[in-house]
Amino acid sequence: MEFICTKCGKRTPVTTMQPTCECGGLFELDFTPEAWDPELIDDKEWSQFRYRRFMALEGDAWRDVTLGEGHTPIVRFDDDVLFKMDYMMPTLSFKDRGAATLVAHMKAIGVKSCVQDSSGNAGNAVAAYAARAGIKCEIFVPEGTSPSKIRMIESHGAKVNVVPGTRDHCADVCRAKVRDEGAYYANHVYNPFFYEGMKAYIYETLEQLGRIPAHIVVPVGNGTLFIGVVKALEHLEKSGAIDKFPQIIALQSENCDPLYRAVKTHDAHPASIVPKPTMAEGIAIGVPMRGDELLDMSYRHNIAFVRAPEEKILEARAKIAARGIYCEHTTAANYAAYLAYCEEHGPTPDTLITMCGAGIKSDH
Ligand SMILES: Cc1ncc(COP(=O)(O)O)c(C=O)c1O
Ligand SMILES: [Zn+2]
Repeated sequence: MEFICTKCGKRTPVTTMQPTCECGGLFELDFTPEAWDPELIDDKEWSQFRYRRFMALEGDAWRDVTLGEGHTPIVRFDDDVLFKMDYMMPTLSFKDRGAATLVAHMKAIGVKSCVQDSSGNAGNAVAAYAARAGIKCEIFVPEGTSPSKIRMIESHGAKVNVVPGTRDHCADVCRAKVRDEGAYYANHVYNPFFYEGMKAYIYETLEQLGRIPAHIVVPVGNGTLFIGVVKALEHLEKSGAIDKFPQIIALQSENCDPLYRAVKTHDAHPASIVPKPTMAEGIAIGVPMRGDELLDMSYRHNIAFVRAPEEKILEARAKIAARGIYCEHTTAANYAAYLAYCEEHGPTPDTLITMCGAGIKSDH
């Protein structure tokens, strides 16, 4: 299997230890899954790897890596809204989907140690799966990251570096280590194997509901779930398994909204912004590395962008918790943004919202 450079088109075997093409362009996978067919689901496997026939995976390394991720319940919240409970995962967030496929790939190609930067959840997930796979791991998080996320990462034996400054600066510091020391970059934005796991969010939804809801609410920082959702829906549409592409409602923070702004002016590139502090730490990405790709997908599928109002996040979290569901602040932003969308567009029934991070993680 090969990567293709999104900038110059050069091909590189996926066994490479490099994070990007020689030209600096990000990789994408040269992989087209076979047509969706429920007969190809491994119904004896109770993790997201039941859909592995549709994922770019070579060999069986995933068997030593899986922690039973995926297969999260879909719960009715009210007449209009369904929650997919993606915090019901081994490390309590949706990032386990991508970390499981990425670390399976890393194990398959013989990676011995890795680094990753994260607002907390992706680092948590990579640390846990790397521990499972026997791969040494070092995680960079920005200052202000929830202490419970840091404790979880350390508990898996990973080294944590808390970097002063913004989330974007934290990524720069980690990438300097990748560049200067040749560390393997187990990153959810750079490495396309991460997206292979995120696709299962949609495959599961189809299997669980027997259909795809009319509206899908997806948070976008770097857009890992966003890309996974779009790729899986394109796969289902191409296979004739769905006849209508759902309305994706992508959300950003009111205080960090480079893609929201770009879409408003139909720009091909993310807007240049100075992020302000937000409670939604998970989506505080001022410079999304795959920004042009995300915008291209948005225009291709008429994806709506909405912002989570900062002052509504705690209210949304309380409303959700009052119905028995305890999610983290960034995740409450998904529901706050949905309500903002309804204010603008009227009632929006048949909506699936991801409950992507557990409340116990945001203890500040
Ligand atoms: C709870 C939560 N929601 C949303 C996101 C945004 O994910 P992405 O940056 O891949 O778009 C993150 C990222 O860490 C997160 O932790
Ligand atoms: Zn290139």
